[in-house]
Amino acid sequence: MFESKAGIFFIAGVGFFAFAFLSNAAVPVAMYRDQPEKTVEELVNPRILYQFKELSRRFPEAFEDHVGEASEENCVKALRLGRQVYVGEGCWHCHSQFVRPVSNDSRRFGAVSETWEYQNELQRPVMFGTRRVGPDLTREGGRRGSDWHAVHFFRPKIVSTDSPMPEYPWLFDGAPDKPNKRGIALITYIQWLGSWHDTYPYYEELTEMQLNE
Ligand code: HEC
Repeated sequence: MFESKAGIFFIAGVGFFAFAFLSNAAVPVAMYRDQPEKTVEELVNPRILYQFKELSRRFPEAFEDHVGEASEENCVKALRLGRQVYVGEGCWHCHSQFVRPVSNDSRRFGAVSETWEYQNELQRPVMFGTRRVGPDLTREGGRRGSDWHAVHFFRPKIVSTDSPMPEYPWLFDGAPDKPNKRGIALITYIQWLGSWHDTYPYYEELTEMQLNE
């Protein structure tokens, strides 16, 4: 076997596969085995709660009909559903959720992604994505207002001329100011992205009063 080229390539192939499996799967699993995975309940913080309350103010009727109170409990539900919508609509075909340590990614999207950011329920499985037809979304939360997202999901071209992003009218009860349950959930999920960082935009401008409201 060692005398033939094919034999050597075969052994090298199996060897490299085993090495990759060890270094990329077995070692990380062993390293983080003791760290508990955060639940969605644990992920809700003042930043995302502020955005959730903001949504209830911007779309009072839709929010009342589909969500009810802007409580922590409902925020948790919206985040879980929002992630499902993100997965179901295939947003990850065009958007990554990982700021890479190359190509000056951090200048455009913010701090390079770290392991701990993915140690939670909403990252199972992770939505790293493989293609970037649109921008990376892992620091998207707080960058834009929820009404911008609503109009953008309803018809991207209204706010972004020539956008190739598909329209998602089924997330609305007919107009961009009437997001339905799934629409509200998706916006909540998008506003959540990056809410675990102190650099979350808007937040710094919030007054104590707004936070305690
Ligand atoms: C066919 C590829 C494609 C799909 C599918 C897609 N997008 Fe996009 N998305 C884009 C492109 C391209 C842009 C940049 C142009 C624009 O703003 O519309 C974009 C922009 C965005 C932005 C604005 C980012 C910013 O701040 O500039 C958000 C948020 C977004 N997409 C979320 C989503 C969500 C959520 C879904 C799934 C419901 C989705 N996208 C599906 C291609 C896509």
